[in-house]
Amino acid sequence: MRRLVASQELLLVLLISLQCLSCLAIANPALDRQAEALLQWKSGLRGDLSYCGLEEWSNATSPCNWSGIYCSYKVRRGHERDAILVVTNITLFSCNISGGLSKLRFAQLPRLVFLDLSINSLYGPIPSDIDRLAELSYLDLSNNKLTGSIPPSIGNLRSLIKLDLSTNEITGSIPESIGNLTSLQNMDLSNNRIIGPIPSTFSKLKSLITLKLESNVLNAILPPELGFLRNLLF
Ligand SMILES: *[C@@H]1O[C@H](CO)[C@@H](O)[C@H](O)[C@H]1NC(C)=O
Ligand SMILES: *[C@@H]1O[C@H](CO)[C@@H](O)[C@H](O)[C@H]1NC(C)=O
Ligand SMILES: *[C@@H]1O[C@H](CO)[C@@H](O)[C@H](O)[C@H]1NC(C)=O
Ligand SMILES: *[C@@H]1O[C@H](CO)[C@@H](O)[C@H](O)[C@H]1NC(C)=O
Ligand SMILES: *[C@@H]1O[C@H](CO)[C@@H](O)[C@H](O)[C@H]1NC(C)=O
Repeated sequence: MRRLVASQELLLVLLISLQCLSCLAIANPALDRQAEALLQWKSGLRGDLSYCGLEEWSNATSPCNWSGIYCSYKVRRGHERDAILVVTNITLFSCNISGGLSKLRFAQLPRLVFLDLSINSLYGPIPSDIDRLAELSYLDLSNNKLTGSIPPSIGNLRSLIKLDLSTNEITGSIPESIGNLTSLQNMDLSNNRIIGPIPSTFSKLKSLITLKLESNVLNAILPPELGFLRNLLF
């Protein structure tokens, strides 16, 4: 009987320590901050949040289980031997959501590689701290109601391959810093109210495959050094 009790105790200790092991594995403050940032953004959104399952987002589940959110294991900087789960993709196109981008705390989502919020009713400016998304390769904010001008900080998104800001109400001129996006393959700024000349820094966009600028108030005349763009427009 004594032995039985002892082995039950042992089993209990074993179970608790196993549980604690998984507890340790799950503890991920970076992911918690990402969840908090997304929940805070959600709390300011309007529209039918059931449309894409946003109403299910809650801190009762991991953000990696939320609809529209995808996580990947990424190596922590300075911790080459252990990888942690982080939010890398946000795919919420055509979700009937309305709200601003300024409430989305990009600083808390530094490992994001993919952000698609197209075909919604997002309004207001593109926040200049968008450059906190240092690993972003895909940015689609098309078909919303975004206003203001393109923040010059966008030129810091060095990993960007696709940039689609088409069909919004964006004004101002194209920042020269866009020429720093040397990995960019697809750029679509069409259907906005962008003015002024095409910056000569476009000549640095050597990876560009498609470029769409139509339906803006841009000067139609291309500087000679941008002759190569003639093959890309439209
Ligand atoms: C989006 O939501 C509004 C009301 O919130 C509704 O009138 C409209 O039909 C919805 N659009 C789509 C595409 O579901
Ligand atoms: C989860 O969210 C609720 C409501 O927003 C909040 O009161 C609670 O403190 C949160 N729990 C954790 C563990 O963050
Ligand atoms: C995520 O979803 C899976 C499958 O539905 C479930 O087994 C798991 O417990 C969930 N994780 C969290 C943290 O909610
Ligand atoms: C996440 O984004 C990356 C980079 O664009 C892409 O290759 C991958 O297919 C995406 N994954 C999901 C599940 O959307
Ligand atoms: C980015 O572009 C701007 C404007 O063309 C330029 O002044 C700046 O030096 C560039 N930044 C880097 C880090 O190359």
